[in-house]
Amino acid sequence: MALLNLLSKPVKSIQGTITVPGDKSISHRSIIFGSIAQGTTVVDGFLDGEDCLATLKAFQNMGVSIERPNNQQVIIHGVGKHGLKRPNTIIDCGNSGTSIRLLAGLLAAQSFDTELTGDESLLKRPMLRISKPLGEMGAEIVTNDGKPPIKIKGGASLQGIDYLMPEASAQVKSCILLAGLYAPGETKIRESGVSRNHTELMLKTFSYPVELKDNIIVVNNQSECRGTEIKVPGDISSAAFFLVAGSIIPGSDLIISNVGVNPTRTGILTILQKMGADITLLNQRYCGEEPVADLRVCYAPLKGITIPSDLVPLAIDEFPIIFIAAACAQGETRVQGAEELRHKESDRIGAMVEGLTNLGIEAISFTDGALIKGGIIQGGHVDSRGDHRIAMSFAIAGAVAQQGIHIKNCANVATSFPNFVTTANKLQMNIEDIKDND
Ligand code: S3P
Repeated sequence: MALLNLLSKPVKSIQGTITVPGDKSISHRSIIFGSIAQGTTVVDGFLDGEDCLATLKAFQNMGVSIERPNNQQVIIHGVGKHGLKRPNTIIDCGNSGTSIRLLAGLLAAQSFDTELTGDESLLKRPMLRISKPLGEMGAEIVTNDGKPPIKIKGGASLQGIDYLMPEASAQVKSCILLAGLYAPGETKIRESGVSRNHTELMLKTFSYPVELKDNIIVVNNQSECRGTEIKVPGDISSAAFFLVAGSIIPGSDLIISNVGVNPTRTGILTILQKMGADITLLNQRYCGEEPVADLRVCYAPLKGITIPSDLVPLAIDEFPIIFIAAACAQGETRVQGAEELRHKESDRIGAMVEGLTNLGIEAISFTDGALIKGGIIQGGHVDSRGDHRIAMSFAIAGAVAQQGIHIKNCANVATSFPNFVTTANKLQMNIEDIKDND
């Protein structure tokens, strides 16, 4: 049954070893590339969360045979780049920005018409950032005033593009690269800021030629993806909740094993270490093209910092929990250059500043960031606004609050971290799923 509200109560210290679910970005991409590959792809460590399942269902609807021997394993019988079939329904991407933006790039190049939609949150998210470059490539794509639903006309003849990305966004980059696999000529993307590079690494894993030089990525339509084996590392964005929990709950000492530490994702480690956190990377190794480590975190008093803006894209999904670390730190923490946070599953600046203020923390929002003054987190009520990462962040805050924190609207935790409550309570946290939707 879906979990609706959470009640998180204070605890003394947390200890133990946990794993977190598979990386969400890598799980989505394993399904997408596995489906358009020639041959079979076996994925281990797949994130069995609602977002990745939306991607998986989309490909099943397009005629791809996908087996699930167990929750974490997926076997995809790839149909080749030109083997997808017209889905007989509108594709519902649920809450998932990655599904809708990456699929739009792929579907812009198919011979059949498609329509992509999603939930209330997704219907508010900006899509011009993909419809504009896809349109320049020759795609026939119509949005609802820049938002989903997105209607894509099949049979368009695409052309490669030389595209300078106006924002650091892996979803936009990946969308264009997917269209580029079908577009005659070169598709060249110039990144203005670093964004996660899982698509580029996965192209390599699927033996698809991709040129990577400095901040430029080049693909063409001359090759095919070859089925492969993928081991998905644990998601650092999910580990982040426990990195902060271990840092702020006195006496804590824990290990999160098998976490992806791709340098385009490790802004959370750098930021927490700058704040004084005691985090060690153990047993560093590779899982295919992706670097992985076990992360040990011990309690350490944190201090407020000004977060350098070049770290923002490297920690873009971790700001809700960074704001909790900031609320527990001595002094002020300031982040700017992070306007993207207003366009995530919720307006994450608005949601966090409102929630922290309700809990007795001084927090000010800017258009592009926030200033948070460390203090004592009181108990109280907050609304996650249906955003999984806001819900989990306040659940972690409850462990150090004076009284429990009641968090409303948490069903979407299942999009990225279905067993969050069980994992937290395994570490002696005290989080209850209270299902009293008030
Ligand atoms: C993702 C890219 C990021 C991130 C999202 C996942 C991806 O979004 O916030 O959770 O898998 O490509 P943007 O591309 O909008 O920055």
